[in-house]
Amino acid sequence: MKWTHVTVAVAKGRILEGTRRLWTDAGLVWPIREKSRQLWARPTDQTPGVIIARSRDISTLVARGIADLGVVGLDVLREYPDPGVIQVADLAFARCRVVLAGSKPVWPEGPTRIATKYRRIAEQFFREQAHPIEIVSLSGSLELAPLIGLAPYIVDIVDTGRTLKEHGLVEVATLFESTARLIANPALWRTKPAVGALRSLFCQKSESLDEKGVPL
Ligand code: PRP
Repeated sequence: MKWTHVTVAVAKGRILEGTRRLWTDAGLVWPIREKSRQLWARPTDQTPGVIIARSRDISTLVARGIADLGVVGLDVLREYPDPGVIQVADLAFARCRVVLAGSKPVWPEGPTRIATKYRRIAEQFFREQAHPIEIVSLSGSLELAPLIGLAPYIVDIVDTGRTLKEHGLVEVATLFESTARLIANPALWRTKPAVGALRSLFCQKSESLDEKGVPL
């Protein structure tokens, strides 16, 4: 297969490291220079192109056809849904949980403040519980919020649990489990065979999804 016309947008951070491994496990040469700040590599015959971007921008790049495929966490896809992309695989790495955490393992009593970078996810969760909340939007270092009196609870991702523990916080409820997802531009997905071929290469050890994100 020639990869000259295929580009993949990859989210910075945990997703990037996992994607590099996925890429080399698939027998492809990772085109980004080691320890560099390079954000873009053009596709060649031997390897698809890579664009490295902020996680919430991956869907935009795919929906606009700048990239054929994208790799991004389910947490980000749920917080910033984009009707212009489809999920085509659960890549099963970057596994983490989106949780409600606080200083004690007890459900909030009455209306409460929640610090989070997942406003939409948290609002939907508490709406389903019919529990009134006020969101305090932060973009990181959420574990600080209960300690400094900004909000008694946070909604955040937990991987090893170390950050919560080091700040004396405990999980109160799990909202959902997140993993890295492969997303596609629907028009390019249907018309470029190389895009489907790349999904097959990536999915040798994981699960293909249909256009609604349901396992095939
Ligand atoms: C995430 C999350 C927690 C931490 C959880 O932060 O917000 O702070 O990872 O991981 P752990 O359970 O393994 O300790 P991230 O590193 O993505 O940075 P952020 O503060 O910018 O969100």
